[in-house]
Amino acid sequence: MPRDEWVAPEPMPEERAEPVVDEEQRLRPRTLDDFVGQAELKDRLGIILDAARGREEPPDHLLFAGPPGLGKTTLAGIVAAELGSYLHVTSGPALERAGDLASMLTNLQRGDVLFIDEIHRLPRAVEEILYPAMEDLQIDVVLGKGPSARSIRFDIEPFTMVGATTRAGLITGPLRDRFGFPFRLDYYTTADLQAIVSRSAGIFGVEITDGGAAEIAGRSRGTPRIAIRLLKRVRDYAEVRADGIVDVDAAADGLQMFGIDPLGLDRVDNLLLDNLCRRFAGGPVGLSTLAISVGEPTDTVDEVIEPFLIQQGLLARTPRGRVATAAAWEHVGLTPPDSTTDPGPMPLFDEGTT
Ligand SMILES: Nc1ncnc2c1ncn2[C@@H]1O[C@H](COP(=O)(O)OP(=O)(O)O)[C@@H](O)[C@H]1O
Ligand SMILES: [Mg+2]
Repeated sequence: MPRDEWVAPEPMPEERAEPVVDEEQRLRPRTLDDFVGQAELKDRLGIILDAARGREEPPDHLLFAGPPGLGKTTLAGIVAAELGSYLHVTSGPALERAGDLASMLTNLQRGDVLFIDEIHRLPRAVEEILYPAMEDLQIDVVLGKGPSARSIRFDIEPFTMVGATTRAGLITGPLRDRFGFPFRLDYYTTADLQAIVSRSAGIFGVEITDGGAAEIAGRSRGTPRIAIRLLKRVRDYAEVRADGIVDVDAAADGLQMFGIDPLGLDRVDNLLLDNLCRRFAGGPVGLSTLAISVGEPTDTVDEVIEPFLIQQGLLARTPRGRVATAAAWEHVGLTPPDSTTDPGPMPLFDEGTT
């Protein structure tokens, strides 16, 4: 069914109008076509959305999992926009009590999309409200306390829940089972990131050459959010030092000035590798010790810093702790000890070794 024939489930009341559009908002692709890369995910999601439009029913609940900055929030917005539905946004940590979620659910109108970010951080009692809501469109609300407490069942409107998580492994079985399809986002190729950088530069009104965009893309750790952040720093640099045009030289000089090395590692990444090799003799060293040595929270090291280092073959997670690979020793400018062997590919999001 062509998109034009799809009719939004409910007219939007005045107070549900679009929020003010800022720079971040302008950057977010609004349609699946504008979303760069992740071809397989786009194909599958496109089919689910087309089928739902054809049936004029909300699609199954969707889960997006992957490291920060790869486009999970963007996809939630795209799902709602493609369906012509209203998007409600909340997050696991924001929903402290079961009542917070119950009132959101009872306020949903037919076909609305409810986006819960960081869904693995939902408190257990709140999560339990979700099971019957997702499955049977019902919620049980307990009124009163103690012996006089009674439970009232409410019906809710058909809706689509979109969950996002950086830690798929921490989602409980019952919750995972209620999603129609778990989508996993992968790091982007340099070519895709280059397209995102060029697209974003166009939106910012920055003049950029293909070489300049490629230079930024190559140091963006496979992550669109980082590509956009680096583009902003290079834009500043180019305006002040290089007549405003972002070419290869302006990009390379600007990134170097802001402490981003050619692999895209920043000061903290390099400090972590340096500590791992020099202070801990290449490991194995525990996650918390390593995190303290760079002054970052263990979560950040585990979820943001390490996955990229692992992907680049610079660090490995073993049952006894983190170890430096031969490439890490070389990266920090040291000769690897004889005992360092290449551990081969390691699971990126292994939940068992933290
Ligand atoms: N596939 C993509 N194409 C274009 N821009 C993207 C893409 N994925 C992410 N972005 C941009 O990257 C930034 C981070 O995306 P976001 O959806 O907030 O990531 P996440 O929610 O996974 O942390 C946003 O500014 C978004 O516009
Ligand atoms: Mg997000």
